[in-house]
Amino acid sequence: MNEVVAQLMQHRSVRSFDPSPIPEADLREIVAAGQMASTSSNVQAYSVVAVTDPALKRELAVLTGNQAYVETCPALLVWCADLNRLSRAAEAHIAPGEEAYADSAESFIVATVDASLAAQNAAVAAESMGYGICYIGGIRNRIEEVSSLLGIPSLAYPVFGMCVGLPDQPSGQRPRLPVEAVLHWNRYDAERGHGPVGEYDETMTRYLQARTEGRKSTPWTKIMAEWLTRPNRLHMMEYLNNRGFLKR
Ligand SMILES: Cc1cc2nc3c(=O)[nH]c(=O)nc-3n(C[C@H](O)[C@H](O)[C@H](O)COP(=O)(O)O)c2cc1C
Repeated sequence: MNEVVAQLMQHRSVRSFDPSPIPEADLREIVAAGQMASTSSNVQAYSVVAVTDPALKRELAVLTGNQAYVETCPALLVWCADLNRLSRAAEAHIAPGEEAYADSAESFIVATVDASLAAQNAAVAAESMGYGICYIGGIRNRIEEVSSLLGIPSLAYPVFGMCVGLPDQPSGQRPRLPVEAVLHWNRYDAERGHGPVGEYDETMTRYLQARTEGRKSTPWTKIMAEWLTRPNRLHMMEYLNNRGFLKR
């Protein structure tokens, strides 16, 4: 295993941070490394808001569902899919009356994927520098308020936040599905994908029991059933439409 792979295999989300600020040069380096991720047609359809202001982080901690580490991390990177900058940059070259497709489902996918790839590159860079990270999908809980608070324009939306900081205590590593469950050769084989799930239920049950000193042992499949049946963030479609996304 080379050093990069070895580092990737060490990933764990960090939710407890040393409060000391991250040098601005480090944050710039982390984001610059994120920018070197591949990007669809070089559109680079994302922006990042680095939130370091304590009062703003406090408000965002509440808006993300009282996630304390959103406040206690030294920096919260809010990764936004952004077709606003792109539309403005291209404006001068689009003839009056000519159709532009920033509002298509495909453009939405491009921007969301671009933001995610850049963010994950940045996460790996941050981890290589000794920082820990935790993605915050909770940024979409009250996304209208978050967007106003951070001044996010139309044709842009916060995909997720990312807490960054030096870990102040070790955290456990969450096991993943066996690679056989996710890797198919040449053709999708549903049985092959499903086979190792039972084994993973046992692995996760043991992991949860160890982590909670026996208090929790819910199988992964049951947790997934709860996830699937929870009406989660159903406001997103209307929010995205109002921002100019997903019109066709
Ligand atoms: C897009 C995304 C959103 C997430 N949102 C949250 C969140 O709001 N709060 C949180 O504590 N963890 C969040 N996580 C972290 C996941 O729970 C975590 O990555 C997963 O359980 C696997 O654990 P690990 O990262 O420690 O390996 C998020 C992860 C991703 C990729």
